[in-house]
Amino acid sequence: MNVLEAIRGRRSVRKFTEEPVSPEDLTKVLEAAQWAPSWVNVQPWKIIVVEDAGTKEALAGTLLPKNPAAKGMIQAPVLLVLVGERGKSGLYGDSFSTDKGDWYMFDLGIAAQNIALAAHSLGLGTVHVGAIDHKKAGSIVNVPDGFEVVEILPLGQPAFEPKAPPRKGLEEFVTLESFEGNKWGGSG
Ligand SMILES: Cc1cc2nc3c(=O)[nH]c(=O)nc-3n(C[C@H](O)[C@H](O)[C@H](O)COP(=O)(O)O)c2cc1C
Repeated sequence: MNVLEAIRGRRSVRKFTEEPVSPEDLTKVLEAAQWAPSWVNVQPWKIIVVEDAGTKEALAGTLLPKNPAAKGMIQAPVLLVLVGERGKSGLYGDSFSTDKGDWYMFDLGIAAQNIALAAHSLGLGTVHVGAIDHKKAGSIVNVPDGFEVVEILPLGQPAFEPKAPPRKGLEEFVTLESFEGNKWGGSG
């Protein structure tokens, strides 16, 4: 599977079979995060691999009400808890250099999507789970001060292939030369 196929074919998977994730596949998925780009290569991430049923259940309990990923959090054989280190990303010298402040969410987002694409390319499934009580999740897996849970990615064999939710057309979000410029009219 090439990169474009992985980007197009990846779906949010919220139902998993009981099939375990092999240590080899898990390593490949973690290496996809390892090779993600980050602000001046600061790599402000930690990943906690959770396989213990009790911890998975406790983490599932941190999801905000009606989160559709709740069941999958318990079904999935592995949960990856993505943790960001505050105050390292977005710095030039000693201070944040842009009006965006700390760029850790951005760095973690890229690493997280690398994980999702790698998982898909291996025939595994996952979903970005961000609608959680982050502090509660952090306390369950003992995240210290200065670090914050960003999201949880359940990882496993998809129980079925979900349908793709619709996307905006390129003409709805791509313009030429300026924000109010002509809409993109190219092929695609
Ligand atoms: C930052 C972020 C947070 C998300 N949080 C959740 C979540 O808490 N629960 C959930 O079921 N899906 C969550 N999703 C998945 C989106 O709902 C999903 O990506 C979107 O509907 C598009 O579907 P697709 O991933 O299959 O293309 C999240 C996605 C992103 C990027």
